[in-house]
Formats: sequence, C-alpha cells, structure tokens
Amino acid sequence: MSPTPQTSAADFQDRMLSLGLARVSEAAAIASARLIGRGDEKAADQAAVNAMREQLNMLDIAGVVVIGEGERDEAPMLFIGEEVGTGEGPAVDIALDPLEGTTLTAKDMPNALTVIAMGPRGSMLHAPDVYMDKLAIGPGFAPDTVSLEMSPGERIHALARAKGCAPEDIKACILERPRHEEMIAEVRETGAAIRLITDGDVAGVMHCAEPEITGIDIYMGSGGAPEGVLAAAALKCMGGQIFGRLLFRNEDEKARARKAGITDFNRIYSRDDMVTQDVIFAATGVTDGSLLAGIRREPGFLTSETLLMRSRTGSRRRMTYRHPVGRE
Ligand code: FBP
Repeated sequence: MSPTPQTSAADFQDRMLSLGLARVSEAAAIASARLIGRGDEKAADQAAVNAMREQLNMLDIAGVVVIGEGERDEAPMLFIGEEVGTGEGPAVDIALDPLEGTTLTAKDMPNALTVIAMGPRGSMLHAPDVYMDKLAIGPGFAPDTVSLEMSPGERIHALARAKGCAPEDIKACILERPRHEEMIAEVRETGAAIRLITDGDVAGVMHCAEPEITGIDIYMGSGGAPEGVLAAAALKCMGGQIFGRLLFRNEDEKARARKAGITDFNRIYSRDDMVTQDVIFAATGVTDGSLLAGIRREPGFLTSETLLMRSRTGSRRRMTYRHPVGRE
C-alpha cells in the first residue's frame, strides 16, 4: 500500500463511508451466526474476524487498525497497526471488535455485537490491551455530574440528584466479576438496582444512552480498555459521557502502554479525549439484546439488525439486512 497523506476532518467523507461500514459489521455478524450457541468461542470469533477483514478490505480507504484483535505478534488478522482497505481513499483510523461477547455468542446469551468505528487519522486513543476503569452516563447531564474519583455510592446519589429522582429509581449496569464485589455492595447500599452482565461492556455503556429503552442509567466498573474506546465512539454519536482510566497489573502492561505512546499512566480520559474528532460507528446484533435484535433465521435467509451512527450529525439509522444463504 502506498503512503497516503493525512486526512483532515473535512476530507473524511463519513456520509459515503458509513454505509460501507454498516456492511462490514453486518458481514461479521452474519458469519458468526452459525456459531451462536455452539459452545465454541474461538470459532465464532474467527468467523467474525475473517468476514470483517474481507469486507473492510473492499472499502476505498487507507485504513489503519488502532483498536483491534491484539498486537501483531499475537493476532494474525486485524492486529493493531494492520493496514486495511484498498489504499485508494482517505487516511482513516479504525477501531473494531469483530465479536464483542465471544462467550455470549457461544452460550447464546444476550447482547453480543459486532462493532466498528472509523474516524480521520489520529482521531482515536490507541488504547493498549489492558483493563480500564470506566464510568458512563447518558446525555443531558452537566459535565461534572459524576466522576471516577467519586465512590460508587456517591456516583449514584449524584446522578439521582441530577435526575431529580431517588437513588432507588436509578439502575446501574456492572460486569459480574469478583473484582466488582465491593462496588456492587456499595451501589446496593444506596438502594439503586443493578443489572449484572456476564460480558459485553460496550453494549453495557451504550445502554446508558437510551435509558428509557434499556432501563440503565449508569455504567461502572473495569473492563477492556479497547472496549472503552469503542464505547466512547458510540457515545460520541449517541450523546452521553464516559470516563476511563487505564489500570496496569504489571510492568509488561505498562510497556504496552508506552509502546502505544501513553506516558501519563494515571490520566482520566473523557469521551472526547478518547475520541477526539467526528467518527462513524456501526454495530450489528449477533444475539438478541436491549439495543439490537440478534440474527434471525428462516429457510434460505439470515436477517440482521445494524445501528449506524455519525457523530457529526448525531444521526442514527437502524438497518435490517436479509441475507440470502447459499447463493453466493
Ligand atoms: P470478549 O468478547 O473478547 O470475550 O470480551 C468480552 C468482555 O466482556 C468485554 O466486553 C469486557 O470489556 C471484557 O470482556 C472484560 O474482561 P474480563 O472478562 O477479563 O473481566
């Protein structure tokens, strides 16, 4: 691929590219459909990766994967730094998770998604594959309503005050992990309800943007940092706030961060620190969830639902795709 000049935000033709991006996330979901509920996480992920990469390489972009399947030595495809697209179009950064919720897919549990975001070169944080402490709320609140510095209980009380309701009327979403036991207990003490999820915190964060549909007001807890950037891209389109702080368990993880150009290990990133320019975002449902329907089967067809969003305009499209099976 020949070197391509940097793309300015104005050159980034998100209107044209967005439909192509929807096809990419659709293809990954359709490919993983036959592996839903088959107990094989790796096969489901591989099918999604292959399909996503094949579709991505058809787009007229000079793309670089900044959030991907891992570093070059650990991921054969869609690794961080991989060049994707025909090389003929704008220089763009790509953040992706071909199957967000591999276990959810293998066990046919709710909210598995395929996810991809695209923005001009340099628009997204190159988050290393470490954990991130995350906190998210939906749109319409003052910037300092909640913060990572607050305790879990303080966050619930602060959000309830801002919403003009009682803590009992707030519902939090938290990954069910032993590391979150204290957080869960503290949130319960306030009287707030908790939706515990077993996986899939990109969807968990996105739930906050549509509380009237999903019933979720706030997301908190630690999960993958790459998923944090993808969630920030989603909220940049949907509205809402997310804060993230990288968490390091050892020197190797710090070295990964340094390699990605990160020097301040204690920094708290806001949504707009993680995603600095306008992006487009597409997610397709694999299994049924509160945001998107999962893949539907009928003889001769697979049907998917995709959410396609542009942060520049705040537009959201829901697209249904009926894919003929066995005619290719
Ligand atoms: P996979 O799809 O790669 O299995 O990740 C699912 C996920 O639940 C993410 O949504 C979340 O950020 C991360 O795993 C949490 O990590 P851990 O399972 O180590 O707590």
